[in-house]
Amino acid sequence: MRVCVVGASGKLGRYMVQHALDRDYEVVGVCREKSVAKLADFGDRITVVPGQTDDREVIGRAVAGCDAVLTVLVPWGVRGYSSGTAQAVMDLAPEGARLVFSCGWHITRDGKDVYSRWFLASGRALTVLLRLVRVADVDDQVEACRRIFESRTRWTVVRGSDLEEGESQGLPVWSRHVGAPVLASNITRRTDFALFMVEAITDDTLVHEAPAIVGRDTPSALAHAQRREDAS
Ligand SMILES: NC(=O)c1ccc[n+]([C@@H]2O[C@H](COP(=O)([O-])OP(=O)(O)OC[C@H]3O[C@@H](n4cnc5c(N)ncnc54)[C@H](OP(=O)(O)O)[C@@H]3O)[C@@H](O)[C@H]2O)c1
Repeated sequence: MRVCVVGASGKLGRYMVQHALDRDYEVVGVCREKSVAKLADFGDRITVVPGQTDDREVIGRAVAGCDAVLTVLVPWGVRGYSSGTAQAVMDLAPEGARLVFSCGWHITRDGKDVYSRWFLASGRALTVLLRLVRVADVDDQVEACRRIFESRTRWTVVRGSDLEEGESQGLPVWSRHVGAPVLASNITRRTDFALFMVEAITDDTLVHEAPAIVGRDTPSALAHAQRREDAS
């Protein structure tokens, strides 16, 4: 299995590289030239293609021959970085490749997610502020996902809750919609977010799904498991 990790040098990216290597996958990582050193620990176990993740020439080279592409979608700047990255991956990955993208709960596929007032208000405020100072354009991540949802590729969009560092709790649990009781704890270990992304490569039940995830040992996930056990 040959896997490309787009955004490999970030926190999520490095966890994904490690999980992929743990499965003996061949790994190609894309990251900015200035961040290549962050991948030094992996030595010659991975191939690094330096460059911006929305550079089509860079992505074309990196995804060639890959069975799967794991993409960290981040909306840096105000020039369509996220949508440019997603488009390049969808256009240039080999036909039939598994494409797995990361984002947050704020992305909604069908409008049936239920958000708290606080989530909506703080999200909107952050979007406006980041765009005002031209640091990031959250709406471009929304646009990236809109294009993914419409595409005929074999995509999965993994929607992360708030994240924390720490030991793995195992594969996160998920729901189709934010607002489901199982997700109420709203926290996932970053290494487990990465685990979910890597596991999705071989889980065809996740093709054309946008799972919202939460840590499997969180109170809401444990309560959900208990309710299911009581009902069976
Ligand atoms: N942080 C959260 O609480 C949270 C919550 C839910 C979902 N998520 C999702 O999780 C994923 C990873 O997010 P993360 O916050 O954990 O960050 P992360 O894994 O550290 O990834 C950040 C990425 O952005 C790149 N980057 C940073 N500054 C950049 C710039 N100016 N121009 C271009 N690229 C730049 C980094 O590359 P370099 O290594 O080159 O800097 C890295 O690949 C994202 O898809 C995010 O939507 C995050």
